[in-house]
Order: sequence, then structure tokens, then C-alpha cells
Amino acid sequence: MNSNIDAVTVLLLLFLLHLGGFTRHAASEDLASCLKTSGVHNFSIASLAENFPVNDHILKFSIQNRRFFRSSLLSPAAVILPHDLHSLRSSILCCRGSSFAIRLRSGGHSYEGLSYASSGDGPFAVVDLMNLHRIDVNTTDRTAWLQSGATLGQLYHAISTASEENRPLGFSAGSCPTVGSGGHIAGGGFGLLSRMHGLAADHVVDAVIVTPDGRVLDRGGMGEDLFWAIRGGGGGTWGAVYAWKVRLQTVPHRVAAFIVNRSGSNRHIAELIEAWQWVAPDLPDEFYLSCFVGGSLPESVRTGMSATFKGLYLGSSEEARSILSDQFPGLKLREEEVKEMSWIESIVFFSGMKKGSTVHDLLDRKLHVKTFFKAKSDYVRARISLPDLIRAVDLLSTEPKAYLIIDPYGGAMNRRRADEIPFPHRSGTLYGIQHLIEWMDDDDEGIEGYMQWIREWYEFMGPLVSSGPRAAYVNYMDLDLGRNGDAVEAKVWGEKYFLGNYERLVQVKTAVDPNNVFRHEQSIPPLATSVGFAGCSKLNNFLF
Ligand SMILES: Cc1cc2nc3c(=O)[nH]c(=O)nc-3n(C[C@H](O)[C@H](O)[C@H](O)COP(=O)(O)OP(=O)(O)OC[C@H]3O[C@@H](n4cnc5c(N)ncnc54)[C@H](O)[C@@H]3O)c2cc1C
Ligand SMILES: *[C@@H]1O[C@H](CO)[C@@H](O)[C@H](O)[C@H]1NC(C)=O
Ligand SMILES: *[C@@H]1O[C@H](CO)[C@@H](O)[C@H](O)[C@H]1NC(C)=O
Ligand SMILES: *[C@@H]1O[C@H](CO)[C@@H](O)[C@H](O)[C@H]1NC(C)=O
Repeated sequence: MNSNIDAVTVLLLLFLLHLGGFTRHAASEDLASCLKTSGVHNFSIASLAENFPVNDHILKFSIQNRRFFRSSLLSPAAVILPHDLHSLRSSILCCRGSSFAIRLRSGGHSYEGLSYASSGDGPFAVVDLMNLHRIDVNTTDRTAWLQSGATLGQLYHAISTASEENRPLGFSAGSCPTVGSGGHIAGGGFGLLSRMHGLAADHVVDAVIVTPDGRVLDRGGMGEDLFWAIRGGGGGTWGAVYAWKVRLQTVPHRVAAFIVNRSGSNRHIAELIEAWQWVAPDLPDEFYLSCFVGGSLPESVRTGMSATFKGLYLGSSEEARSILSDQFPGLKLREEEVKEMSWIESIVFFSGMKKGSTVHDLLDRKLHVKTFFKAKSDYVRARISLPDLIRAVDLLSTEPKAYLIIDPYGGAMNRRRADEIPFPHRSGTLYGIQHLIEWMDDDDEGIEGYMQWIREWYEFMGPLVSSGPRAAYVNYMDLDLGRNGDAVEAKVWGEKYFLGNYERLVQVKTAVDPNNVFRHEQSIPPLATSVGFAGCSKLNNFLF
């Protein structure tokens, strides 16, 4: 060992660390003063000098996957909470001016934590939109303007409060009330009305966006290419959506709803799924019938495998039962299992909120039970055979913490063109599968085991699902598919999410954000050439 070199190295390291700390400290000061002078008052900035992190309560409030709670990736230099359009724009310009990367956060449900965690792209700031949750419903023309920090629960609540008694309105989007409209609509937005009305993004008729260079544009200003991209091309990529204008749907006065579970041998469960495949995608549009297979938390309640069916029918319970006794007799749906209620009550019924929750509780943006989870997704275009389903249920039954959510497509989902918006999984898609593994205990060793299990399960499922490319839903983001910054072309994962729409998304990104200001591990990258990195084109794709 040469102690001289050691001493020099140590000194050099100390110097570099100090310099890094110094520049970052200066950048933080810059950011703080920029925010203050431009009228942004609600922010928290980490101080390297005094060694304190950003406001922990505000940061963790919208972290909806505990996998990222203690993450080493979780170290934003600032959390900024704009309260209006002007302060949103200023937040973005100030971050850019002091060289902080931007992570936009609406509801914080990103499956990979991309709205608040970053795997090394230099210092970054979280621009949290939770204070932008105003919703204006116009019952005359059946539209609503909503700020993008509004949650789905807040939106559903506002719509039902504004609706006239004789003409109830609803909206087709996801079922979890704490999901943010900012990220949700940006990736599509599938829910219990989707077989009747399509995705949330299918009903966006206008939007206001803050572009990378701080321009504020509505649909007319942004043009049809960008307006196309923001409706399903994924969040955190195009700019900051400040508000969406959506078309609402009329819903019946009463709907029929049920959640029933059936347990039995693995073979029996496989037979139920087999039968479901022939029924659910072809039911009348008014009927949504999904299937949840496997684990129920807590584990202690479980007695072998079970399949839980969630049904929403836009009509009477009598009709619902008569349709299913005719088409899905194996379900043996009993009269007392189906309840009639208003549409907004059905939102509460399917919300997963605790028993006794009311319509008013939809306003609560806090997710009360947070778990650790990892998810992946697939689409199915050719029904899976019974023997394969039996093998699958057998394997699934070996991991009590794993389960599947199988969502029926068909109906309105499949009647839209695959390139109408970036979300491409339309005609010919029978159903989507979400593969999940979810746990409650905080142990590092366990995490690796769970991650490994679901990756092997995904391998196993490969031959049974859509291929060429194997498809996935961008709102169920999965970084195992690849990430910017690794030596993998974005096309590899981009085509799984967007199929034939991927190339157009790259073109739009190149035109509107050539410097890749809005970026994360799976944002659409701009084409290198337009940035002027001649000879460096490969590099720029991975620029982080
Ligand atoms: C419990 C749970 C239930 C879910 N249920 C459904 C469901 O029923 N149907 C369904 O389709 N999906 C569902 N999802 C997936 C959900 O739609 C996506 O995770 C969605 O991206 C979450 O949006 P968010 O605003 O809550 O998340 P965030 O983590 O805040 O944002 C997600 C992404 O969008 C970006 N983003 C956020 N706001 C904006 C904005 N204003 N402008 C531009 N980019 C923005 C973020 O930077 C991030 O990249 C569910 C997820 C969870 C965790
Ligand atoms: C910032 O916004 C959060 C969330 O609404 C709120 O709890 C907090 O009190 C606000 N802080 C300031 C300084 O306004
Ligand atoms: C609602 O929409 C109608 C029809 O477009 C319009 O005339 C009216 O001004 C709107 N109401 C509000 C409160 O914006
Ligand atoms: C099935 O549903 C019943 C009633 O909701 C519940 O008590 C039971 O625990 C469920 N069983 C399983 C296996 O989830």
C-alpha cells in the first residue's frame, strides 16, 4: 500500500465532495430564491449544509407503495407544491434555471415510484400537485374541468354532487379513489365503465399544459399531435398537465353490483377462469365482470385458492342475474349476492375503502392502508386452455402473497381505433392481466425473494399471453421491461406499452421536448439528432 497516494486520493475526494456539495448547495439557494421571487410559497428544500432532508411528512404522504419508503433513490432536493397555474409554471422554470430535474406528482400511485424517486440523474425536485384539485362540473354540456392534482375520488364526488337528480352523470376511470388524475389519465385510465364507455383518456376534450420552456398551451395552442400524446402516452414525459377537460357520461339511476368469491380446488378455480374467458369479454357493454385470483390479505383468512368476481351492471339486479345464469351458470350467482345502488354508491362499494365508508369519504386523498407491492401486466388475445390454466393456478398457489386481477375488455374498449390515442390495446384484446405480489412486512431479504418470484411467474406466463411484442399497460409500469439509461433501446419496452404508436410518440417527443426536460426511467426519449449531438446519437437516447 502506498500511503502517499492514499492521502492524495482522500484529499482529492474530499475536495470533490466539497465542491459537489457546494454547487448543489448553491443550486438549492438559487432554487429557493427563484421560487420566492416568483410567488411560490409552499416548498421545502433539503439543506446539505445543515444536513436536513425535505419535509418528510409531505414527501411520504403520496408515496403509495412502501417499497419506496426507505429507498436510497428517495432523496429529492426539494418538494414544491404549486397552488395555481402561475406557480406551477414558475416551479418548472425555477427548477430548470437551477438545473434540477423535475418529477411531477399527482396522486403518487406510480407503480415504480417515478413521481418521487429517481435512480441517479443528478439532483431532482418533486413538483407535487396535491394543492391543485379544483373541479368545475358543467351539467349543461356534460363536461368537467379538473386540475390534474385532483384524485379520482374527488372527481367522482364532484360529479355526483353537481348532477341533477333526474339525470345522474358519471365518468369512466379507475376504481381506486386516491389515484391522481394527473398520472392516471396520462396513461389511459381503465375502470368499471370502460366496456361501456372506454378509457378516461378517450373522453379528454381539452387540456392545459405547461411545456418544458414554460409556455402555457390549451388544445388549440398545443396542436393535435401533442394533444394526442398526452392522452395515454404516459405521465412525466410531455410537460406538466395543469388541467383536463373531460366529457362526462350519463349513468342509470340504479346499478347492480356484487363482489362474490368462490373457493375450491385449484382445478375448480381454473375451470371458473376458463369459463369466465368465454363470457366476460362478450357480455353486453353494460356488464363489467372481472376476476381476482389468489391471495387475500391477511393470509390467515385464506383457505386454499379462491376466485373473486366483481360485477357492475348498468341496469337492474334481476337483469344482471338473468344474464349470468344464462351465460355463466358455473358462477351460481345468488339473489342475495347482488345489490342495487346508485352509481356513486357503487364507486364506494368497489373502492376498497374500509367498511362503512360513505360518498363523502371519496374526498379523502390519503391512502390509509399502504403495502409493499410489485406488479406486471399482460394482454390476452387467444383464450388460455384449461390445462394451462390448471398449471398456472397450481404455480400461483405456491405463493400466498401473489394474485392476479383479470380485467375484461371488449365492448367500447375494442371499438376504438388502435391509433386514436396512444393506448393501443383495442380490437381483438379479450382481457388484461395484472400480476401482483404484495406484502406487509418490512424486511429487505423478503423483498428480493418476492421480486424474484414474480419475475419467474412472468416468465412462466410468457407462452400463454399476447406476443410479438408481449404487451403491457403503461399505467401498470414495470421497470423490468427496460429503462432509459441502460443499454437497451427504449423501443423494447416502448412497443410493449404502445405497439404501433411508439414511433409517433417518439416523433412528438422530439418536436416538443428535444432536450428531454421531462424524463424518467421509462419516458419516451426524443430522437438524438434533433438535439445536435452529432455522432453521439446513441448516447443521447440514454441521456439522464
Ligand atoms: C392502488 C392502485 C389502484 C389503481 N387502480 C387503477 C385502475 O383501476 N385503473 C387504471 O387504469 N390504473 C390503476 N392504477 C394505476 C394508476 O392509474 C397509475 O399508477 C397512474 O399513473 C397513477 O397516477 P397518479 O397521479 O396517482 O400517480 P403519480 O405517481 O403521481 O404519477 C404517475 C406518473 O405520471 C406523472 N404525472 C403525474 N401528474 C402529472 C401531470 N399533471 N402532468 C404530467 N405528468 C404527470 C408522474 O410524473 C409519473 O411519471 C392503480 C394504481 C394503484 C397504486
Ligand atoms: C403546503 O401544502 C400542504 C398540502 O396542502 C399543506 O399541508 C401545508 O400546510 C402547506 N404549507 C404551507 C407553508 O403553506
Ligand atoms: C356550461 O356549458 C354551457 C354550454 O356550453 C355554457 O353555455 C355555460 O356557460 C357553461 N356554464 C358554466 C358555468 O361554465
Ligand atoms: C369470501 O367472502 C366472504 C364474505 O365477504 C369473506 O368472509 C371470506 O373471507 C371470503 N373468502 C375468501 C377466501 O376471500
